[in-house]
Amino acid sequence: MEGIVTNPEIVIVPDPQELAREAAQRFAGLVGDAAASRGRFSVALSGGSTPEALYRLLAEEPYREQIPWDKVHLFWGDERCVPPDDPGSNYWLASDVLMGQVPIPAGNIHRVPGELEPDAAARAYERDLNDYFCGPRTRFDLVLLGIGSDGHTASLFPGSTSLWETKHLVLAVEAHYENRPASRVTLTLPAINSARHVWFLVTGSAKAGIVQAVLKGGGENLPAQQICPTAGVLTWLLDAGAAGKLAQSRG
Ligand code: 6PG
Repeated sequence: MEGIVTNPEIVIVPDPQELAREAAQRFAGLVGDAAASRGRFSVALSGGSTPEALYRLLAEEPYREQIPWDKVHLFWGDERCVPPDDPGSNYWLASDVLMGQVPIPAGNIHRVPGELEPDAAARAYERDLNDYFCGPRTRFDLVLLGIGSDGHTASLFPGSTSLWETKHLVLAVEAHYENRPASRVTLTLPAINSARHVWFLVTGSAKAGIVQAVLKGGGENLPAQQICPTAGVLTWLLDAGAAGKLAQSRG
């Protein structure tokens, strides 16, 4: 298991719309820096409902025009093992509100082949990562993450042996959460924690308890507490609802 970040950057904004705006501005900034210094930008997108507002905003002006989409490579932090045209697919969400709206080359879209058998999908995705990063180690420019009410992130769930994985960048896992597909493929902690930037995007008072537990160390080694970039920056982008219990615990 990885260490705990003691002082992540915590950004609190009033509401989900403002959170999407803050994230979009920062996203465009990171793309610009990476394109200028490395000629390309790699991001692992998050699934779930929270990032949808950000993806929609990136497809609108000024970001649609401002971002050099030919330099942007899209990956996923996790995927549900369903076909890409299934509404339960994280790829489907992003393709519907983002990829179909911006001039990103098809070759820059590195989706998890969720239609394959889970282990085969994980191995295929890992090969794609190895090709892109020219070897067995990843160094994403940005990894976007959400958090579940149980403290899971990507598809790394409490008590799962996947939290101890040190060899593979990608694993197939089974996890039951709400009524979402249980068979999933996820980046592992080493693949996430080697990123230059890792962002948690969290909205709504329903998440205030888990945010407090993770950031105030109440949780018993929750997966979200294992997100600890080894040579990168961890940022929590929260709306007032999700940050609602942080002030309390400051006492
Ligand atoms: C997934 C996600 C998962 C998600 C959390 C939060 O595929 O389900 O990657 O980790 O980020 O479950 O989901 P919401 O944003 O919908 O609350």
